[in-house]
Amino acid sequence: MTSDAKFSQHSGGHNAYFSMLNTLLKKDGPGHPVIVLDLDILDENLQELNRNMADPGRFRVVVKSLPSIDLIRYVFEQTKTRKAMVFHRPFLNLVAQEFPETDVLLGKPFPVQAARTFYAKLREPSRFNPAMNLQWLIDSHERLLQYRQLAHDLDQKLRINIEIDVGLHRGGIPEPERLAPLLETISTDQDHLDFAGFMGYDPHVVKSGKVFIPVEKAHSQVLKRYEKFVAFLKERQPALYTESLTFNGAGSPTYSLYQKETILNDLSVGSALVKPNNFDIGSLAGHRPAMFIATPILKKLQGVKIPFLEFLSPILSKLKASWGTTIFIYGGYWKAVPVSPAGFITNSLYGRSTNQEMLNGPVDARVEVDDYLFLRPTQSESVMLQFGDLVIIRDGGIVGRWPVFTQGA
Ligand SMILES: Cc1ncc(COP(=O)(O)O)c(C=O)c1O
Repeated sequence: MTSDAKFSQHSGGHNAYFSMLNTLLKKDGPGHPVIVLDLDILDENLQELNRNMADPGRFRVVVKSLPSIDLIRYVFEQTKTRKAMVFHRPFLNLVAQEFPETDVLLGKPFPVQAARTFYAKLREPSRFNPAMNLQWLIDSHERLLQYRQLAHDLDQKLRINIEIDVGLHRGGIPEPERLAPLLETISTDQDHLDFAGFMGYDPHVVKSGKVFIPVEKAHSQVLKRYEKFVAFLKERQPALYTESLTFNGAGSPTYSLYQKETILNDLSVGSALVKPNNFDIGSLAGHRPAMFIATPILKKLQGVKIPFLEFLSPILSKLKASWGTTIFIYGGYWKAVPVSPAGFITNSLYGRSTNQEMLNGPVDARVEVDDYLFLRPTQSESVMLQFGDLVIIRDGGIVGRWPVFTQGA
């Protein structure tokens, strides 16, 4: 739970903020689980992002973490950026169709078959020009050769960004010298391959302080490694080096560490703008949760009753303060933690359910059947896709409904 006053715990019932959401949804909600997205809080997070970005031109939107065309459009408009990082082939076609002027960098290397599918599905005529605006991510020489073959088959130029390992050890080119064959292949087939830059992701940095070395030191190690890759590029293939290359890195956990001028000119951020539970970390203290799952309470019972253990019920409710009331909610078992009304927890003894989940709370819980329970998703990317249109809140009212991505064909 955030320490933010607006969401502070309110024993047994909803605080003013969640009471407001509860009243709104009971009146105008669809009557089933939804995700509410609060635009006022999103705006505050965008301002925080702006404060933390020395140069707003570096900002690249992480599409998977904000998976709605309207949401991405809103973030584009507010931040004046036109750069996106995409992680899923169907979403890549969607982004290309909806935002043809966007510079797209892939966040993970796709099998070449997915790249083929992308070109096959790119609706012609398309205003999106992949030869100009799409950076395919390549993590090995073998994959580069597959993409070169694709470029020949399509008779089109492919832009190539190389994934480098700056310490996360999630693949990518492990050492600068190992870039040599890739750079060689690109420089000898410039009719088909265009070098676009590097991508080096570094979320391990914020974990370092807990276990090994201070975060600042881990961050400077990342920068040093990145610089070595760029130095190798300049030394080995100077003709491939231009001022317009993309040197991408960071993510929500680390972007605020890049306030000084560094070799990176492109920083990815997504989750920090809605701040799911897993992003309650020191480096994001200035961001606030902007989205919640809201689900109707279907049933309310006194105490806790577990099949075959009914005789234990009188003791159970005395054993634990949170076993005074039982509720069953519409749906459940999401990647999420209950936040309001305060004090409700799931019951692993009874078992989890995606259909009607049991939660238990304090004996004096001030919620009734048809009230809403609110949960905070632990992550945005998969959870936001499970509830249909986002319910958009502004200034205490519902101001819209934004569809989320569908997988498509
Ligand atoms: C390559 C890459 N860059 C950036 C991000 C950051 O995304 P977010 O800001 O949503 O944490 C991710 C997240 O998985 C990633 O894989």
